[in-house]
Amino acid sequence: MSNKYVMANFKMNKTDAEVEEYLNTFLPLVENINAKIILGVPFTSLKTAVTKTQNSNVMIAAQNMNENEKGAYTGEVSADMLKNLGVDAVIVGHSERRSNYNETDELVNKKILRGLKSGLICIFCVGETMYERKNQMTEQVLVRQITEGLKSVYANELKNIIVAYEPVWAIGTGVTPMDVEIVETVKVIRNILTSMYDEEISKEVVVTYGGSINEINCKEIGKFEGLDGALIGGASLMPEKFAKIINAFKPKATRKKA
Ligand code: PGA
Repeated sequence: MSNKYVMANFKMNKTDAEVEEYLNTFLPLVENINAKIILGVPFTSLKTAVTKTQNSNVMIAAQNMNENEKGAYTGEVSADMLKNLGVDAVIVGHSERRSNYNETDELVNKKILRGLKSGLICIFCVGETMYERKNQMTEQVLVRQITEGLKSVYANELKNIIVAYEPVWAIGTGVTPMDVEIVETVKVIRNILTSMYDEEISKEVVVTYGGSINEINCKEIGKFEGLDGALIGGASLMPEKFAKIINAFKPKATRKKA
């Protein structure tokens, strides 16, 4: 089985009927692709998506959840509710949530701890703004986001964490970082994980890239060293395009533990 993760984030797009139609086209296109595929669909389509992807190679993610176990949080959705529905994963700390809904590193951490407790894979988004990159603050920002976000997460829980490096300036802009910028930043992320855990553990953590990936640049990005996959927004909304992108992420040799 491939160890490459290719994930979609539909954001606030597609009605339930549209998600169903999407899956009717998408599932046959990807049934023989050797990759771990996760679709982040709106809450309103989770049930449909979970049902339709049963016995397929596609997993389903929610795009958000509440950090509390349960209670008086009108309009919110808990990790247990997602798990009970058959949802596999949840996107946590996406930059749109950090900037539009003031999600802090502390809140992201609470959501991750709650998600892990309920048995969900947490797709943990991190990344710097253009201002931060221009001012050489990328490493400092990632150190803060990762050490705070993964606070109290045990090494043996990291198998359920996917770090999605998504520079804010590359999301939905059509601008992607240069290959060295991605490769170097992934190294920075692994170094941070090494200082929190150790090198062997850090190597095993799934680290992916996201931001303006399309069916053309995926061919190059798919080959980047140290990268375990991708998170795709806009280009995942069309099943044919997304299937092409998934194909670009060819499996690689499994990293062996020392
Ligand atoms: P994009 O979005 O592919 O449209 O840039 C990526 C994301 O927000 O996860």
